[in-house]
Amino acid sequence: MKILVTGGAGYIGTHTCIQLLNGGYKIVVIDNFSNSNPEALRRVEQITEKKIKLYRTDLLDQEALIKVFEENSIEAVIHFAGLKAVGESVTKPLKYYQNNIAGTLVLLEVMETFEVEKLVFSSSATVYGNQQCVPLNESLPLQATNPYGRTKLMIEQIMEDVYQSNKNWSIALLRYFNPVGAHESGLIGEDPSGLPNNLVPYITQVAVGKLAKLSVFGNDYPTYDGTGIRDYIHVMDLADGHIKALEKVLSTRGVEAYNLGTGRGFSVLEMVQAFEEEIGKPIPYEIKARRPGDIAVSYADPSKAETELNWRAERGLAEMCRDSWNWQKLNPNGYEKTTEKQVTS
Ligand code: WQD
Repeated sequence: MKILVTGGAGYIGTHTCIQLLNGGYKIVVIDNFSNSNPEALRRVEQITEKKIKLYRTDLLDQEALIKVFEENSIEAVIHFAGLKAVGESVTKPLKYYQNNIAGTLVLLEVMETFEVEKLVFSSSATVYGNQQCVPLNESLPLQATNPYGRTKLMIEQIMEDVYQSNKNWSIALLRYFNPVGAHESGLIGEDPSGLPNNLVPYITQVAVGKLAKLSVFGNDYPTYDGTGIRDYIHVMDLADGHIKALEKVLSTRGVEAYNLGTGRGFSVLEMVQAFEEEIGKPIPYEIKARRPGDIAVSYADPSKAETELNWRAERGLAEMCRDSWNWQKLNPNGYEKTTEKQVTS
């Protein structure tokens, strides 16, 4: 039996593939490489010394997806594939609804046809929207504030409806907080295309000299130092959370949401200081206006995942900074552009 990983060449996907292979699972990866690089999967094979069966395809291509299920005995699916840039989702909402929602509908229909009813879904803390209270727990009312977040919220609701229609399904909805860091080898890591939207890759690109200075989006928030507070979680802890969630869906039925966060928040200026200590040099920054749509404070109550998945984040801020910086200094330009001929079909 095999685990199908959609979007397996992405940042969270590659780190989860490493833990799946190290855990003895056989995996099949689907990726259209619209926002990832085949080189990343080659490096996963290098790290684990195991092979990955790869299908270069898009979830919207139902025929191709049916072929994957016909050619492989799939036991469960971990579904990462999707677009995830908040800003882009505001300017191109239809692209996000088509890719994220329609792509997921095709996947669910093919899973239903082949009676594959075990699913781990890559959701996001963005479904909590702008809550007045922290820490955030899974029973809070959900309220996405941008098209990207609405795709995650709608997909969660679609999966709940699928379960209500057929109680054989078992689905874990994993709400990530702020994934950062990289595998200790420094061979894989976060490789944003173009200017980084997120804080940590922006900091490491400043540190490695690719960008001149960091813009700190607002220092007038109601926080101890005026800058935004977030729950940063090491991507390897996040990957381990997927393994625990997979074990859960393989052994139970039902739909459950879980926060994957550390339960601790750090401000933007605290992150800058932590990286300066790790890297041993200052990170030049400039205070700018708040970024539209940003919230002041977001961090998780991770107790449900601790109790029900027997999972908790183990890695601290120093390790997040060390591993983020290790990846960036070894790969100042991310994954080198891979030529078409090198991509396996
Ligand atoms: C973190 C903090 C910014 C960049 C986003 C998505 C979320 C999830 C994770 C997908 C904030 C500040 C940032 C910069 C800055 N992605 N910042 N200068 O916005 O919490 O979450 O990524 O699931 O859905 O919304 O992460 O890293 O963009 O911002 O000052 O150049 O850093 O204001 O306070 P965010 P982020």
